[in-house]
Amino acid sequence: MSEAARLFGNPRVLGRVAASDGRNTTAAGRLETSGRRLDGAAIELSELTKTFGHRVVLSAVNLKVEPGQFIAIVGRSGGGKTTLLRLIAGLDRPTSGAVSIDGCAVADVQKAARIMFQDARLLPWQRVIANVGIARGDDWRAQAMQALQAVGLADRAQDWPYVLSGGQRQRVALARALVPKPKILLLDEPFGALDALTRADMHRLLLTLWAERGFTSILITHDVAEAIALADRVLVLRDGRIALDLAIDTPRSEREGASSLLAELKRRVVAEV
Ligand SMILES: Nc1ncnc2c1ncn2[C@@H]1O[C@H](COP(=O)(O)OP(=O)(O)OP(=O)(O)O)[C@@H](O)[C@H]1O
Ligand SMILES: [Mg+2]
Repeated sequence: MSEAARLFGNPRVLGRVAASDGRNTTAAGRLETSGRRLDGAAIELSELTKTFGHRVVLSAVNLKVEPGQFIAIVGRSGGGKTTLLRLIAGLDRPTSGAVSIDGCAVADVQKAARIMFQDARLLPWQRVIANVGIARGDDWRAQAMQALQAVGLADRAQDWPYVLSGGQRQRVALARALVPKPKILLLDEPFGALDALTRADMHRLLLTLWAERGFTSILITHDVAEAIALADRVLVLRDGRIALDLAIDTPRSEREGASSLLAELKRRVVAEV
């Protein structure tokens, strides 16, 4: 049984969390521990501001994300969520303020961070394995196969992207994001276009990989239920600011059954969006 499966199966363990220095802290709701190597990076936003012309998209945002934490961000369309991810990944520069990863200011594209988008963005002229691993050095095939195995698609390595289903394509995109062993995974509505069952499969897969690998996750979603089901913390981004920062203390294994509690959390998030 994988470590993640063991952890998921034991609600008593689910309430604990191991800090990066190996301490166990109590933060119910996170997956967690002893023994898991935390490979996530810390992220800090300090007075982060981004304007496009006269439009202020992010306004002096402050945020600290612990290594290995799973954050979900919800907010209205055009509210600056993708802009925020791009700034963290170093794909764009702040107008003022700063982003730092593990204490280092982000001034360029970050190798530690990978982004996964709503559409898989696979190259149609490359087979699945090449989409996952190409440009990854000499042993790229081995690395790509390993990542495909992790998402359950090793047997589709030689297929062309067009023969895959939407959910399979997203799994290939996830495999591609995992190959460089990122310390941060930035997920920009990656499940938005999937049907409910495929989406539930992707949630399980993502949580399993997150538990095994320990990367820091930031998930953008329009789906408040998805945010509450997956994350340690749900943020609402509104008018360029963090309007709500809500810790989800219920262990993941108990969230589905705790309908009244979830309804209350959902009400609080929706009220702020
Ligand atoms: N390169 C750019 N140039 C000018 N304006 C931009 C640029 N990128 C984003 N914007 C503007 O910034 C605002 C926020 O865009 P962003 O893509 O971050 O929103 P979002 O919260 O991700 O929205 P959605 O939920 O629809 O994806 C929008 O008004 C958008 O038009
Ligand atoms: Mg967006």
